[in-house]
Amino acid sequence: MNETIKSIKERRSIRKYKENKISKEILEELVDCARLAPSARNAQPCDFIIITKKETMKKIGEIIPNGPFIESANACIVIFGDSLNHHLIEDGSASTENILVAAQSLGIGACWVAGYNRTYNNKAKEILGIPGDKALVAFIPLGYPDEIPGKRNTRSLKEIVHWEKY
Ligand SMILES: Cc1cc2nc3c(=O)[nH]c(=O)nc-3n(C[C@H](O)[C@H](O)[C@H](O)COP(=O)(O)O)c2cc1C
Repeated sequence: MNETIKSIKERRSIRKYKENKISKEILEELVDCARLAPSARNAQPCDFIIITKKETMKKIGEIIPNGPFIESANACIVIFGDSLNHHLIEDGSASTENILVAAQSLGIGACWVAGYNRTYNNKAKEILGIPGDKALVAFIPLGYPDEIPGKRNTRSLKEIVHWEKY
């Protein structure tokens, strides 16, 4: 199978991580993949924070009800951008998926943790020094996988594909 398709098909959300550090080069490579995602009118509205300090990941994990495992990650990439850009959520999501697929291809586990329009946004922005005119899109905790996720329910190709018309 083609390597890119293999990474897309085999990617799963990973929420348990080994202690092994992810190198600075790999973390920057992931952001480089994010930066090259398509964006509406090529506006490139996103910025990325790479968190590696345990103390900061602990603070972020504590304020996100569905993301306490961020605390045990090796690093966390935060995707955010210009809140006035009408396509921020789409552009930011494209960048997020690029990171997830690139991480998978490097054997690194990751999970998309919701960041857009959440109750904890202001607290997270304060912790990370993100100014008011920026909006969060996603948090991606990262680490070498320490779990094999169970089987997931997926709708079949047959159920969702509609040739020519719904
Ligand atoms: C927009 C979005 C927000 C998500 N937010 C969270 C989250 O806050 N916490 C979490 O544990 N998983 C989150 N996930 C991961 C999903 O739960 C996961 O992708 C889904 O259950 C399918 O499992 P898989 O990623 O292993 O295929 C989010 C995924 C997306 C696309």
